[in-house]
Amino acid sequence: MTAEAGPTTGVTEAAAGVDVAAVDLDAADRATWRVAVETLDANWEYDHTVPSRTLYPHQWSWDSAFIAIGLAHLDPARAWRELDTLFAAQWPDGRVPHIVFNPRLRPGDYFPGPDMWASPLAAGPPSGATSGIVQPPVHALAAWRVHQIATGRSGAGAVDATHRLRALYPRLVAQQRYLARRRDVGGGGLASVVHPWESGLDNSPAWDAPMAAVDADPAVMRAYRRHDTRFVADSHRPTDLDYARYLALVAAYRDRGYADDDLAGRQPFLVECPLFNAVRAAAELALAGIAGVLGEDSGPHRDRAARITDAIVERLYDPVAGTFRPRDLRTGRLVPARTVLGLTPILLPGLPAEQVRTILAEATSERFGLTARMSRPLPSHDRTAADFEPLRYWRGPSWMNINWLIWQGLREHGETTLAAGLRESMLDLVRRSGCHEYFHPDTGAGLGSPAFGWTAALTLDVLAEHGGFAGCRPLP
Ligand code: DGY
Repeated sequence: MTAEAGPTTGVTEAAAGVDVAAVDLDAADRATWRVAVETLDANWEYDHTVPSRTLYPHQWSWDSAFIAIGLAHLDPARAWRELDTLFAAQWPDGRVPHIVFNPRLRPGDYFPGPDMWASPLAAGPPSGATSGIVQPPVHALAAWRVHQIATGRSGAGAVDATHRLRALYPRLVAQQRYLARRRDVGGGGLASVVHPWESGLDNSPAWDAPMAAVDADPAVMRAYRRHDTRFVADSHRPTDLDYARYLALVAAYRDRGYADDDLAGRQPFLVECPLFNAVRAAAELALAGIAGVLGEDSGPHRDRAARITDAIVERLYDPVAGTFRPRDLRTGRLVPARTVLGLTPILLPGLPAEQVRTILAEATSERFGLTARMSRPLPSHDRTAADFEPLRYWRGPSWMNINWLIWQGLREHGETTLAAGLRESMLDLVRRSGCHEYFHPDTGAGLGSPAFGWTAALTLDVLAEHGGFAGCRPLP
């Protein structure tokens, strides 16, 4: 594994020493554990973790949620700090921005940077420079998990956990309220995303049909210097046409001050995504668990989780294909591509048996190749599709966070054998290639950033589960 250049914190030895000892691992897994700890330490930036020192030098929203889960295994105080720093940038309307810009960096250190986002133009501006869009709301899930891990330990972490959870709870509730009240553009109980970056799967083939309607000229990119292609081959990244459309969508939303009224009339990209909404329902279940710990009423959270689950089945399930697909609100139709997004509702304990069965059939088919043995983790797109691209970002490569979410879902539904196979497959990637951002879905070769935060963090979580250290309990 090649660590990217960056400041070190001096915590590596202590953290790795303590926690490797605390988890019952063999020599190979201890080595993997250490690589993951070193990656997280090297990416730590005084009050948050950067996804990558080179490619993503600020704080990203869903990255930090996954990263907090890994940090909890090392030092729960650092995990809470990660989440607190992100939520300190929450907007007054409840949205949690997808990028929190580090004021210590120059505006030109990332593209698109704070000038492009111009967050002070918003009607109720945030306190610092941020983007104006959101990402999948995995944060309640993360907070609940950090609490579980912290309370599974002895000492100050356990004592502190309920206090930290109490401080975060209203912010997590506000995040969910924003999505329910401001983003249910289709009126059927699902939140819409207004930009592919909000889905987290930027250039997934799922977005090809809705993005084709976004008017943009790739020549506009001549006026800018892309940040990602300074570090990674063009053939592994979104195209210039993708980027021109990304910028057009940023401008459309930003120029109305990031207002959510009349999104249907104005925003050129509006999609109901199965992953985004499955995570949103799982967040309500996590909030139910949190409410229980805090002595609050968990009933409304459980009711909302059930309603979102029903809406996902009603609006996004394709009974003919036997998978879930995003719905394009511009056309009213489900998108044609069959991607890993279709498997993600398995995360939900309340998913009906028929949909669980068809997701398992899809996951174990040659399209996605899940097996009970160690093989390759799930790719991000259907391997049999003509537009499957094994090197290009979300158009084929395997990603740790999506596999981790599906691993949680398999265990949730009692699919322990498949879950064990997927766990071994995830670990095998990191053992062979290190904590890369994404991986070739056939060879397992590392792609993108070589020292990526959530890959490291979720590797720790997966390793710790085996050692019986964390105690992965099901969603309440
Ligand atoms: C973003 O900012 O969300 C993009 O994923 C960067 O590639």
